[in-house]
Amino acid sequence: MANARNPFSLAGKAVLVTGASSGLGRSIAIACSRMGARVIVTGRDQARLADTFGQLAGDGHVQFVADLTQSAQMHALVDAAGTVDGVVHSVGLQRLAPIKLVSEKLLGEVIGTNFVAPVMLTQRLLYRNALAEGGAIVFLSSSAAHIGTPGVGPYSSMKAALHGLTRCLALEQAKRRVRVNCISPSAVETPLWDRDHLEAQRARHPLGLGTPDDVAAAAIYLLSDASRWVTGTTLIMDGGAM
Ligand SMILES: NC(=O)c1ccc[n+]([C@@H]2O[C@H](COP(=O)([O-])OP(=O)(O)OC[C@H]3O[C@@H](n4cnc5c(N)ncnc54)[C@H](OP(=O)(O)O)[C@@H]3O)[C@@H](O)[C@H]2O)c1
Repeated sequence: MANARNPFSLAGKAVLVTGASSGLGRSIAIACSRMGARVIVTGRDQARLADTFGQLAGDGHVQFVADLTQSAQMHALVDAAGTVDGVVHSVGLQRLAPIKLVSEKLLGEVIGTNFVAPVMLTQRLLYRNALAEGGAIVFLSSSAAHIGTPGVGPYSSMKAALHGLTRCLALEQAKRRVRVNCISPSAVETPLWDRDHLEAQRARHPLGLGTPDDVAAAAIYLLSDASRWVTGTTLIMDGGAM
């Protein structure tokens, strides 16, 4: 094992974190840097991405502004990132609509950002041999993929689609010992939520709402050698809600 004294260490690893300009992605990037990783952070909002970049521990990090639904920008990100040992796909958006009222435009947005963007970024990294042997891929799914919630159909479906992809990709990449896993958090306070919807969630969580640092700790586990025998799986983090 590379880091025998601390299997959770990310020292010597380079980790690409998407959605790093906000919420979970920001906390994951900062936590990875504190565990010794060199981090490549990406998001669309330059100022908020720079804010994350300024909070990274250590040096050698890279920030790169990109809209991951635009393939030219996504390809440029992969070129800028170079070879990485891990990728955490925290890119995502939530759009609420009961199916009776859903539009093709809304569906396209949810599919494009929550499914096509992380999948095609993964494709590009693998195609360019930019994910090192023994590396780790972590998708951000959601507890919404495991339960039914009125109005959450498009988001729930795309997060569930990531689980199927995770199981198949885990087998495709096992020969190179690249591990592929999902994290399914329930409600965590980030800009993804408006205050009223978040507060309404509190009562159904026996351990209370999650924090971005809770999810970052799970990402560190799945990126590190501590999880070297874990692939094709989904870690539900819901404070006991389900
Ligand atoms: N918060 C929760 O309770 C919760 C629960 C379960 C799962 N999740 C999942 O966790 C992930 C992170 O959520 P969050 O709560 O941290 O949300 P957030 O605070 O809204 O952050 C979303 C991130 O995605 C980026 N993004 C959105 N569209 C993009 C695009 N087209 N190209 C590039 N980047 C784009 C945003 O970048 P810019 O802001 O720079 O545009 C931002 O950095 C998402 O996949 C979400 O579905 C969250």
